[in-house]
Amino acid sequence: MITLLAPAKINLFLRILGKRDDGYHAIASLFQTLDLADQLQLEIAPVDSFTCSAPALETADNLVMKALALFRSQIKTPFAVKCHLVKSIPLQAGLGGGSSDAAAMLNGLNQLLNHPLADDELLPLATQLGSDVPYFLKPGPAYCEGRGELVKRLKPLEKQTVWIIKPPFGLSTPQVYQTLNLASLKPRDPKLSLEEHLLGKGEYYNDLEEAAFALEPSLATLKASLLDQGFSTVLLSGSGSSLFCLGTPYPTTPPDHFVRKCCFT
Ligand code: C5P
Repeated sequence: MITLLAPAKINLFLRILGKRDDGYHAIASLFQTLDLADQLQLEIAPVDSFTCSAPALETADNLVMKALALFRSQIKTPFAVKCHLVKSIPLQAGLGGGSSDAAAMLNGLNQLLNHPLADDELLPLATQLGSDVPYFLKPGPAYCEGRGELVKRLKPLEKQTVWIIKPPFGLSTPQVYQTLNLASLKPRDPKLSLEEHLLGKGEYYNDLEEAAFALEPSLATLKASLLDQGFSTVLLSGSGSSLFCLGTPYPTTPPDHFVRKCCFT
């Protein structure tokens, strides 16, 4: 049996550049993985099976199962696999959990079957599974463009402590994108944002934050409370609903919130 880690990510900045003809949005974003991770256990078995620590996710349309079907369509050798997913990353949180699980499945199957596909053959499969899946094929920081699938890997950034806070509700990514008012966004140059981050003095921002706060106004209140507690940065991660906080205070939040101290990986 092999066990793979499927890490969560945050977006240190997320710029939305416009809507594309295919309905997706053109983005430019600095992604960073965290030491908060799901675990994917895989072994060759007589028949396929999929179990999950969150039984509600044990469905045929789980991205992990879609990754299995896609991988299988690309190789000649027949195989079956027993798969167990241990979820630690909260759902609908903007932390990329489902995408990361799918990327771990592609990497895991390739490892288990002695690398029938080259790394660059996994990329188009990942892109087919979702905009963020290519990023998750490797951990660490990366600058992502296109709809997220054009990934430029970067040298490790200075390690920082990050608190992840997620209220009990989640947010739907398509709904947040639909709520976005492109005209209201500050016209920042993401390439400049990247340069500044690489020099250790970058600005943290997320063009989806206003839309997420419009859908769930309590998130804006939570952000204000965390800033009051002394965090230097509090920002929506991805399309939410989690916030990430940089700085050293121990956060005080309502008891039903997910709170986890993490580090960059
Ligand atoms: O690619 P993925 O399936 O993860 O995207 C989920 C949804 O998020 C898309 O259907 C789309 O509504 C929205 N999205 C977008 N622009 C992106 C990424 C996602 O509009 N760059």
